[in-house]
Amino acid sequence: MAKSNMDQDILKVLYTEEEIKARVQAMGDELYDKFADKNPLFVGVLNGCFIFMADLVRATQLKSELEFIGLSSYNNGVKSSGVVQITRDLQRDITNRHIIVVEDILDSGNTLAFLKKYLLSKGAASITIVTLLDKPSRREKAITADLAGFEVPDEFVVGYGLDYAQQYRNVPYIGVLKPEVYSK
Ligand code: IMP
Ligand code: MG
Repeated sequence: MAKSNMDQDILKVLYTEEEIKARVQAMGDELYDKFADKNPLFVGVLNGCFIFMADLVRATQLKSELEFIGLSSYNNGVKSSGVVQITRDLQRDITNRHIIVVEDILDSGNTLAFLKKYLLSKGAASITIVTLLDKPSRREKAITADLAGFEVPDEFVVGYGLDYAQQYRNVPYIGVLKPEVYSK
């Protein structure tokens, strides 16, 4: 195992690197079968998607294109503010494209409810929502994922792309952050 001065801030590991790898491969296989003849456009939600997206597109050996959108609903805290802002807009026309949205976690649903509406307003042919993690207990908007990696309890999780105040994204597993880290 690599050295880490972040492990000490993790209360417990929810999903190991090996478990994530196996699940992401299964998700990739599922997407392949659904999109083999569709030349889909993966749209990753920055910044949280970056590790999951990199692994998912390689697990899904599909002829496809990649794009990113930056969205923010947090102000460095642990709860969504509810107001979603575009911090980096799409750089291409998505009219009539089959979109696969790639998100790190579906929590209140504010981010993905906003994004779905936005992509439809830009003329997307279809939208498939793929999220690594789903925290259904906290949903505020009527939105569900088409494909979710793992369900997580109502605890603040980090790692594999997910952050607290931009840190811990490079933790290779998914773990619950010790509450004393963010209540300090
Ligand atoms: P939502 O808009 O409340 O569904 O939240 C979506 C965004 O909040 C995600 O893209 C994450 O960036 C962030 N988020 C929600 N829950 C967590 C968590 O437990 N850990 C880290 N980030 C989270
Ligand atoms: Mg995010």
